[in-house]
Amino acid sequence: MKAIVQDRYGPPETLKLADVDVPVPAADEVLVRVEAAALNAYDWHAMRGDPRMARLAMGRSKPRARIRGRDFAGRVEAVGTHVRQVRPGDAVFGDLGDANGAFAEYVCVPEAMVAPKPANLTPQQAAALPLAGITALMGLRDVGQVQPGHRVLINGASGGVGTLAVQLAKILGATVTGVCSTRNVDLVRSLGADHVVDYTRDDFTHDARRHDILFDLVGNRSLTALRRALTPTGTLVLSGGGVYRGGSLIGPVWLLTRGQLLAPFVRHRIVALAAAPSREHLDTLRAHAETGRLTPVIDRSYPLHEVPQAIRYLEGEHARAKVVITI
Ligand SMILES: NC(=O)c1ccc[n+]([C@@H]2O[C@H](COP(=O)([O-])OP(=O)(O)OC[C@H]3O[C@@H](n4cnc5c(N)ncnc54)[C@H](OP(=O)(O)O)[C@@H]3O)[C@@H](O)[C@H]2O)c1
Repeated sequence: MKAIVQDRYGPPETLKLADVDVPVPAADEVLVRVEAAALNAYDWHAMRGDPRMARLAMGRSKPRARIRGRDFAGRVEAVGTHVRQVRPGDAVFGDLGDANGAFAEYVCVPEAMVAPKPANLTPQQAAALPLAGITALMGLRDVGQVQPGHRVLINGASGGVGTLAVQLAKILGATVTGVCSTRNVDLVRSLGADHVVDYTRDDFTHDARRHDILFDLVGNRSLTALRRALTPTGTLVLSGGGVYRGGSLIGPVWLLTRGQLLAPFVRHRIVALAAAPSREHLDTLRAHAETGRLTPVIDRSYPLHEVPQAIRYLEGEHARAKVVITI
């Protein structure tokens, strides 16, 4: 099969289209013919081995997982001997987590980690949901504990996670403020945001409006500034972020670490988010998608051999919602 492989850390040029063996499913795995995959910020961190601290988990001198990509949607081709719930021909979607491997014609994935594809979504839309949607769902529902009537601010509302977070916050009954640049104001409003702050004109940390939950997807503001935008007992959910400036030891983890160190000493709840794929999250995302209230926005679609160009675009950190790969 064709796959995007990488034998050393580095820029997009280190990614190559190669012929590799089709993987064979273990007893508890399913083999999926990939129809679409999606990019996440995770992919360029994994590609560059950046921050360098992450190499302890991803592989010291080169990526342990040779094929890049996490999110996929496709058709089940074959199943292992212990698989009970999934059958050949089923349309599924999922997130391969640190195993990677989605930028390929086939992937093997544990049965427990795939879910039926939302019936009303295209493969590209379904592939756009897992990691970004799980991050948004965990940040708002699980960690942020958003309740109806809460005021929620999403910094980075026009990105892959942000566009899903705006919609999920509305589903959870919140009054939503989205922060984005001028060109994305209409998009964020169209997703349901009640208020939109154009960061090129206004500074949300000096706004009179205070928020019960602030979900930060950019990482460009200090903890002091972010906390200024919260109610006295509000919750700050940190996801990482921070503009890439080439090779750093801990990169976006620095803001998260400082947040965790500060948390015991302040009234605000400060939580560093670590998204982890689960079947329950995929099922919840599918349910919301099938009601028509959660629709991934696709910015660009690239063919498999153009994954390097797609990642180059994403790491500019100005993609509008999701970038997908059609296979
Ligand atoms: N902790 C976790 O488990 C976890 C999981 C997933 C993702 N993340 C992190 O979450 C962050 C967001 O991910 P993503 O996939 O949404 O990234 P993304 O799609 O690359 O985000 C791009 C968006 O960021 C916006 N942006 C750039 N600068 C901004 C600023 N100063 N203020 C507000 N918005 C700004 C851009 O809008 P404009 O073009 O309008 O500026 C663009 O729409 C990433 O840093 C990622 O690493 C963490």
